[in-house]
Amino acid sequence: MVDGSAMRTPKPGPESEPNPVLRVLRRLPVARPPVWLMRQAGRYLPEYRLLRSRAEGFLQLCYTPALAVEITLQPVRRFGMDAAILFSDILVVADALGCRVEFVEGAGPRLDRIDGRDAIARLSGRRLHRHLAPVYEAVGELRTALPRETALIGFAGAPWTVAAYMVEGEGSREFHKARALARRDPDGFGKLIDLVAEATTAHLMAQVEAGAQVVQLFDSWAGVLPEPEFERWCITPTLRVVEALRAAHPEVPVIAFPRGAGALYRPFAETVPVAGVSLDTSIPLSWARRELGHRCLQGNLDPVALLVGGSGLLGEAQRILECLAGHRFIFNLGHGVLPDTDPDEVAALVDHVKAFRLPRAADSMACEAARSPEVEP
Ligand code: CP3
Repeated sequence: MVDGSAMRTPKPGPESEPNPVLRVLRRLPVARPPVWLMRQAGRYLPEYRLLRSRAEGFLQLCYTPALAVEITLQPVRRFGMDAAILFSDILVVADALGCRVEFVEGAGPRLDRIDGRDAIARLSGRRLHRHLAPVYEAVGELRTALPRETALIGFAGAPWTVAAYMVEGEGSREFHKARALARRDPDGFGKLIDLVAEATTAHLMAQVEAGAQVVQLFDSWAGVLPEPEFERWCITPTLRVVEALRAAHPEVPVIAFPRGAGALYRPFAETVPVAGVSLDTSIPLSWARRELGHRCLQGNLDPVALLVGGSGLLGEAQRILECLAGHRFIFNLGHGVLPDTDPDEVAALVDHVKAFRLPRAADSMACEAARSPEVEP
């Protein structure tokens, strides 16, 4: 028998969306800016360290749905952020393509080095879905576990950052090997970028289909690229991923984080049709409002302010809130929570943001420079 009740209940419209992250990304009004923190799960939490000490390795946590679900929920349970970000890593895509990844305690990631065309030709996206099935299972379980007030954010690394780790074989401050390969053999490197971009699209689609409501693209090393290279290796491949995702799932907002891009945040935000742009710590807020103001802005508290804590932390959070609260804005850090951060400071920060109320006059004095005529171009 067909149950007619679903037909009689009108489908809730966008106005009834209970989650503030989704609301601001969809241009709906909110009483206060939503808040979540990059790397909100992880080593600063004793309950994470306990699970980590019992696991064989970091990737085992990522590939075991029950553990990934539990670790994702830990910070949300403790602090009540407005979003949960899936516990995983950007390098699982490299691992799924056949570039094996290991996390060495205290030394960061180690990957098979992809040093040229032969190594690129050995990679393949065929096993991607099977390899990452536990991740999608975790996403599905999380969507069921989370209340409707808490958004579930899926994520991936942007093609440049993931490819850069693959070529380098480890973390780096400058990514000289990756940048050298991109200049020496742009067509060969382009094949790697294409492969990673395709895998990234598939990975994000699968997360969305499993229940992720927002996705964030981390381009953590966008800042090492000069202008023409930035356009070729950051903007163009990111645009392809975002367009493919939007074509299949136009309702899912994308937040991009081209960390370190400086003034190149502007062409990025003009070219890539993302709902939100995440600002690193170096970006002046008045500049962001003026130059990137057509996008929802996210950021950009210094993780060191959170590490040090106290009244300095809350003062800095207040400055950001007063400057950006009148804008479409999600409170976040300018990069991830540092491992030595005190959880009590995270609690104080989240409570502070949640107690903030938008002033009636939407704009505040803190960002006056954004509108004063003498700073207009
Ligand atoms: O809470 C969350 O934000 C979700 C989980 C998450 C992790 N990594 C867990 C993690 C997310 C979104 C990431 C993204 C990520 N991973 C990025 C982009 C953001 C950024 O920080 O720039 C990058 C570049 C990586 C690659 C990566 N993963 C590195 C360089 C390292 C080693 C350095 C470090 O911080 O340990 C990791 C490991 C990693 N990823 C840990 C966690 C919790 C620590 C692993 C451990 O427990 O030893």
